[in-house]
Amino acid sequence: MSPQPTKTDNKSIANKIFIRKEAIKNLKEVRVLDLFAGRNVLWNNIKTDKYFGIDIATNKGKNLNADTRQVFDSIDLSEFNVIDCDSYGIAFDLYKKILTNPNIKKGTIIIYTLITNEFTKIQNEAKKEFNFKHFYYKVPSLFNARAIEFFYEMLANYEIKEVNYYAIRDKFDKHYGYFVIN
Ligand SMILES: C[S@@+](CC[C@H](N)C(=O)[O-])C[C@H]1O[C@@H](n2cnc3c(N)ncnc32)[C@H](O)[C@@H]1O
Repeated sequence: MSPQPTKTDNKSIANKIFIRKEAIKNLKEVRVLDLFAGRNVLWNNIKTDKYFGIDIATNKGKNLNADTRQVFDSIDLSEFNVIDCDSYGIAFDLYKKILTNPNIKKGTIIIYTLITNEFTKIQNEAKKEFNFKHFYYKVPSLFNARAIEFFYEMLANYEIKEVNYYAIRDKFDKHYGYFVIN
């Protein structure tokens, strides 16, 4: 059986909180949109001026209980200067929507979590973006293993100049990081 990502919330809580504090340290006001908010563990102990969390699970934190993908297009991103995307896997579809959103303000900080390995299926959005939809089925592991590379390539394609992240490798490649909308 192929290993699948362990869907454990916040396996690296201290590291994730650290990167969020780093990301926002120069902001005068902190207005957070948390797209996969869970139990709000990451932001509970960080001072914010505004916090709006969304999670599909009903029994977790103080959130809008919804599928983020169903409500994303109705959110006015200009109301926030921090967008947290602590999803399982790599949410290429949402990053693409964020990078191309006409309302998002310059200076908005996007905090990301990437978790992958050669067995985790890469999203269709990445296949479309990098034009390998028709080859993927031949050697999926080859493309899956490059998912993180594709993510950074996508950021470069949308003129993101700098990212800050740290990487962990166990059964999965994990990157926790952030970048700023130019
Ligand atoms: C890694 S956890 C996030 C933990 C969160 N950062 C916290 O502080 O507790 C990922 C979360 O995504 C939620 N989730 C998974 N699919 C979702 C979806 N389509 N829409 C909204 N939430 C989703 C899960 O319920 C889970 O709470």
